[in-house]
Amino acid sequence: MTKTNTTPATAADPTVAAASAQFLTPVVLGLQALAVNGKQAHWNVRGANFIAIHELLDTLVANAQAGADQAAERIVALGLPVDARVSTIAGKTSTEVPAGFTQWEALIRNVISDMDAVIADTQAAIDGLDEFDLTSQDVAIGIKETLEKDRWFLFAHLAE
Ligand SMILES: [Fe+2]
Repeated sequence: MTKTNTTPATAADPTVAAASAQFLTPVVLGLQALAVNGKQAHWNVRGANFIAIHELLDTLVANAQAGADQAAERIVALGLPVDARVSTIAGKTSTEVPAGFTQWEALIRNVISDMDAVIADTQAAIDGLDEFDLTSQDVAIGIKETLEKDRWFLFAHLAE
């Protein structure tokens, strides 16, 4: 093995870095949007299940922020920047969460719809990263597990 005196910014193969950024960036943007729209829901939820949903949405927000941080830092660790400015997030995501006070049952369905979009992007990352980088894939797998758990906690309020 030949050693050099220069220290590269990252040990990652450029192909691995590019693939990781390609598949994890939509996850970062979706989770950042979910954090913001989750707070919107947290503040405006109304109805008999107020306190349970209000508190559960804060857990969802915290988990979304943590997941976004993990995915973004994986991209940067591989040597590429992340563009998760508010304007970029707004241009590449959408939400079903409405403006104004909303009854808890409708709001749960809206938040779950938003979550399902992020879960789909996360599944696409898991599938796409399989041939490029198992470490980045592992980040996506962990995020999906948390999203699906939070989805269950919300959906359980609607289930018969
Ligand atoms: Fe709060």
